[in-house]
Amino acid sequence: MRPELGLRIGELELANPVGLASGTFGYGSEYEELVEVDRLGALFTKAVTLEPREGNPPPRIVETPSGMLNSIGLANPGIEAFVARKLPALREMRCAVFVNVAGASEDEYLEVLERLEAAAPHSGAAPRSGATPRSGATPRSGATPRSGVDGYEINLSCPNVRHGGLAFGTDPAQIERLTRALRDRTSRPLVVKLTPNVTDIAEIARAAEAGGADAVSCVNTLVGMVIDLGTRRPALATATGGLSGPAIRPVGVACCYKVSRAVRIPVIGLGGISRAEDALQYLLAGARAVQVGTGTFVDPGCAISVLEGIAAWMEAQGLGRVEDIGGLLESPSGR
Ligand SMILES: Cc1cc2nc3c(=O)[nH]c(=O)nc-3n(C[C@H](O)[C@H](O)[C@H](O)COP(=O)(O)O)c2cc1C
Repeated sequence: MRPELGLRIGELELANPVGLASGTFGYGSEYEELVEVDRLGALFTKAVTLEPREGNPPPRIVETPSGMLNSIGLANPGIEAFVARKLPALREMRCAVFVNVAGASEDEYLEVLERLEAAAPHSGAAPRSGATPRSGATPRSGATPRSGVDGYEINLSCPNVRHGGLAFGTDPAQIERLTRALRDRTSRPLVVKLTPNVTDIAEIARAAEAGGADAVSCVNTLVGMVIDLGTRRPALATATGGLSGPAIRPVGVACCYKVSRAVRIPVIGLGGISRAEDALQYLLAGARAVQVGTGTFVDPGCAISVLEGIAAWMEAQGLGRVEDIGGLLESPSGR
């Protein structure tokens, strides 16, 4: 039996549960020579803010044991240039595209979303997410044109922006209010991305669900710091940054375990996934889908191996649907 890999996020059908994580794959077209993005379920773009941002000064990346620390600081071209220069290429993608939205104030989030809604009117046409790879793509002529935006991932959790991310991602009341305001402005799927840098991530997830989110993704990076003993300076110009990669996987899996038991909406798991075995831990913990981030820097094709490995594992287990994987988790005591 061939396993059914598809799933729904809000009204959107994803062909399979593997996506590329925000900030690790640009806006899609930059790396398409390296990865068959169209075979994946979704691409989560680099964050877009209202104004262009150069990001933080260098050095803004440093390698750590089993991971990396970054303080990119949401460098991006801003909404106007995004619409002019990035959206046309995103319309060509055959996987679902979630635009990652960030801002320093509630108004900024709302304005970025409104500008995207205006630039990419919602046709209501079913997206052809994760369709045939480009090599074997069906001709586009006659097909409904894609808008380039199938959904939004709301980044409430970037730890690098002084006046934005962390405060939003840590206050349940504010998250619920902002999610509701965004919900009022779009019928597209809204995914709220959660930070692990909080005391109770389940409470934050519940707030996003109460505000009308269609899904939550967890986790964003963890706050970390590296000090260079030679110079006695922090390795990053911003002193602290966001830790990602295999080092954070157990934290991400635990967050998905807690969050998936606290909300009814789908949970998208990420943090340190580069092999199918990593992704399966997230799916067993209760995630319905996963994203691959830092792993792509080591092996650009690893998201495809993750997808193939999940399908092979399901087949070996005789599993029909991805959402059945969560039910296989045994209790810790074995009883
Ligand atoms: C260089 C870099 C840039 C990132 N930029 C963003 C971003 O713009 N928006 C966002 O929501 N997350 C961003 N992230 C966080 C990732 O999407 C992901 O949540 C995190 O890295 C954990 O997954 P991983 O261990 O698979 O990389 C970024 C991560 C890295 C390493």
